[in-house]
Amino acid sequence: MSRTEIEWKERPKFPPTHFVDTGIYTDEQIFREEQEKIFNKCWIIACHESELPNAYDYRTFSHPGGEPIFVIRGEDMKVRSFYNICPHRGNTLLYDPVGNAKRITCIFHAWSFNPKGDCIDITRGKEGYQERFGCKDAGLREVKSAIGYGGFVWVNVDDDSCTLEEYIGDAMGMLDENLSMPLEVIHYHKAIVNTNYKLWHDTNSEFYHDYVHYFNRITGMIQPGYFDRKYTGYPNGHASVGSMAIKYDAYEGSKERGVGWPGLAPGGWILIDIFPGMTYNLRTSVLRMDTAIPLGPNKLLIEFRGLGLKSDTPEQRAERIRDHNQIWGPFGRNLHEDLLAVHGQGLAMRERTDSKWVIHGREENSTIHDEIGMRHFYAEWSKRMGRMASDPYVKKEDSAAA
Ligand code: FES
Ligand SMILES: [Fe+2]
Repeated sequence: MSRTEIEWKERPKFPPTHFVDTGIYTDEQIFREEQEKIFNKCWIIACHESELPNAYDYRTFSHPGGEPIFVIRGEDMKVRSFYNICPHRGNTLLYDPVGNAKRITCIFHAWSFNPKGDCIDITRGKEGYQERFGCKDAGLREVKSAIGYGGFVWVNVDDDSCTLEEYIGDAMGMLDENLSMPLEVIHYHKAIVNTNYKLWHDTNSEFYHDYVHYFNRITGMIQPGYFDRKYTGYPNGHASVGSMAIKYDAYEGSKERGVGWPGLAPGGWILIDIFPGMTYNLRTSVLRMDTAIPLGPNKLLIEFRGLGLKSDTPEQRAERIRDHNQIWGPFGRNLHEDLLAVHGQGLAMRERTDSKWVIHGREENSTIHDEIGMRHFYAEWSKRMGRMASDPYVKKEDSAAA
């Protein structure tokens, strides 16, 4: 039965853990608070170590908390991260997404810095500052970084944060064996979508949406065992699901894969969601990593990295790239369907003028179509924000400490 205006605004008849207010996807103030309480407190993947193979290689990164960052490998081969901001008058230091810089010189007044973040030259320093200020007073702002869990470079802008290992806990256990060898980025692309970052992470936290994927509908969902796959939640909002054999090849007639993945059964699948917006997705012969970087409440940059083994032969690499792009490349079978769905959500929610709700109410014994993955995410979100996702305009400051 269709709904009247009053009925439309009625709260869903579920417990408050089983739906959210769409304000959490559109509200500018809530987004600013997320930057402060979530993105500036959590460990975030900036890039992969293979994107910085040599000394002085750097990569710039738009941190979801708002600060521009660059990651650089020093002469000592250690990877460090800094705000991409000159301490003199706040100019941007590095403009290119990638490069190699032994010395970073600001274009504005030509102050220079080394890859350890030390200031090594202030032009006409003595003349202007005499003994009052010098290189020792003008270093770059370093950001905590750590490499781990498949060779990704993680950053945390909170100097007082827990360690990366404490943050991840046991959540990456399912992939321990599969990520124990050096990896390399074999494909990179990004999408900018007018939607909220959580809506993207939601698509990675529930598989009821396999209905949007034509091939999953006609292949994966009819495989025995599909409905037995369980979601497991971990502290800090992380979750995992897997492993199952998706038979994409059933469509083309089955052909044996030449390249597998160490420790993964043929056709196996392991997916791990890391709070607040990163997803490991290992399938058959490729690891896909999504990094959701919000640019605003309704603007999202998603970085997609495909990874293979560093030890690949050229033939293995070519096959891995083909496997990746067929399914997860920008013109592959799968990704555009997810993007279309979150684009549609963003389109509808951006125009929101009255109360609406998003339902996370499926319960199927924590199996693949259960929405427990999303509920687990929003429980963490609510805790960190001090606001229930279902009642975001009622602040519960004390629940932040819970
Ligand atoms: S702003 Fe960088 S040297 Fe002046
Ligand atoms: Fe999907």
